[in-house]
Amino acid sequence: MMISVVLDFRSDTLTRPTPSMRRAMSEAEVGDDVYGEDPTVNRLEQVLAETLGFERALFFPSGTMANQTALLLLAPRATEVLAPEGAHVLEFELAAPAMLSGVLIRPLPAPGGRPSPEDLDRAVHEGPHQAPTSLLWLENTHNLAGGTTLSPELTQGLLARARRRGLKAHLDGARLWNASVALNTSPAELARGFDTAMVSLSKGLGAPVGSALLLPRELYPEARRYRKTLGGGMRQAGVLAAAALVALADWQQVIAEDHRRARELAEGLSRLGLAVDPPPETNMVYLRVERARDFAARLAEVGVLALPLGEDRLRFVTHRDLSEDAAAAALDRISSLL
Ligand SMILES: Cc1ncc(COP(=O)(O)O)c(C=O)c1O
Repeated sequence: MMISVVLDFRSDTLTRPTPSMRRAMSEAEVGDDVYGEDPTVNRLEQVLAETLGFERALFFPSGTMANQTALLLLAPRATEVLAPEGAHVLEFELAAPAMLSGVLIRPLPAPGGRPSPEDLDRAVHEGPHQAPTSLLWLENTHNLAGGTTLSPELTQGLLARARRRGLKAHLDGARLWNASVALNTSPAELARGFDTAMVSLSKGLGAPVGSALLLPRELYPEARRYRKTLGGGMRQAGVLAAAALVALADWQQVIAEDHRRARELAEGLSRLGLAVDPPPETNMVYLRVERARDFAARLAEVGVLALPLGEDRLRFVTHRDLSEDAAAAALDRISSLL
């Protein structure tokens, strides 16, 4: 088969800045952000705080650094944090919580990425023989569970239970934008009631670099100090913030289109007899296949890239750098293999 274009579905982090982002980057007003003097970063933080319904936002180079800062702010050393099984912080942050915060993260049962308030209640540790539980950690959308959403109702139920048990709460909302579009609910509604929330600008939104931590005013100075400690003082970061501001102008349409293509891809894969599991809610399509790595290698030969996760799962993520007909084109190529 002649392959003209590689269709890269491995991740929405592959998105490159659009021409209008590059223009905004080249024209951005900048200053030294470690001194708090970058006007474009300051504007981005203000827009994000308003969009997410928090008092303040702090711009970070990555979601991982923002998540780790949340742990440093909210979970005292030698306490326990409860996170849904498969959470990014458990699987993909390289034991950073052990290195930086000295906390233990225990997984909560979470079918479909959704812990239940009852399981949360049962998991909280108190008393002299166990480390006290300090923090509830949620992820919306839940990446490994399939890009699945947490509804406002379940979120508020979990938060109410957490508060009753004296826990703080953090939201890993790397893809909260996707949850917002899928649930037809504002990102602020989905982030309501958390002490802190992280959102990424560098995934489906398409900005080249950056995430933000949303937080109350009183935690902002300490969060800045941790960010600097972790090596995240970025100086003229306005060139990055400028791209993020462009991304924030039209994200609903972009994300809705990603979801449409994910549905189209999932329907087509099912028609080809492949096991889509779960049905996509957002921009991720997971397949159950034997020998996922080998299957990914065969797909690559026809110019379709997907990410094997474990032995028997393959992830496709739709994003704005894929053409409108990418799903149909990928299905054609995949059917030629079967
Ligand atoms: C759910 C979730 N949280 C956090 C992160 C970390 O973001 P970053 O890659 O910017 O460190 C990711 C990245 O893929 C993610 O999927």
